[in-house]
Amino acid sequence: MKYVRVIKQEDLPVGKSIIVSAKDEEIALFNYKGKYHAIANKCLHKGSPLGEGRIEEGVVICPNHEWRYDLRTGDCMQNPYMKTKIYPVKVHKGAIYIGLEVEGGNKPLGKTPSSLPSSLKFSVPVIQKPRNPDEEL
Ligand code: FES
Repeated sequence: MKYVRVIKQEDLPVGKSIIVSAKDEEIALFNYKGKYHAIANKCLHKGSPLGEGRIEEGVVICPNHEWRYDLRTGDCMQNPYMKTKIYPVKVHKGAIYIGLEVEGGNKPLGKTPSSLPSSLKFSVPVIQKPRNPDEEL
């Protein structure tokens, strides 16, 4: 697992979301009630951006046709056989990191590594700024 730095914590207040691009993946990152959740941005239905969706009771709702996904598990509420990808999130020195799987890569050491080696840190572009501060999820 490789963790990539996404954004400063202060730039993603409670109730906000951003969409980031890391490697070939688009990821929607939410601050839901003070906890960060990262989920594949593309809806399994027709690919609409889940990062622009709203959240109800820990479930993100696609802005297009309202398919629903559990933020913690990626389970699709419309179809128990469908599940979207979720990503581990860590906070380190005021920044938010998302874990990406690396083919043939190292496994994380220990249960909760206390710090990230500098070789694992690099920035990923934010392709959608945090939403309007007055708008709630
Ligand atoms: S594209 Fe998400 S519900 Fe249709």
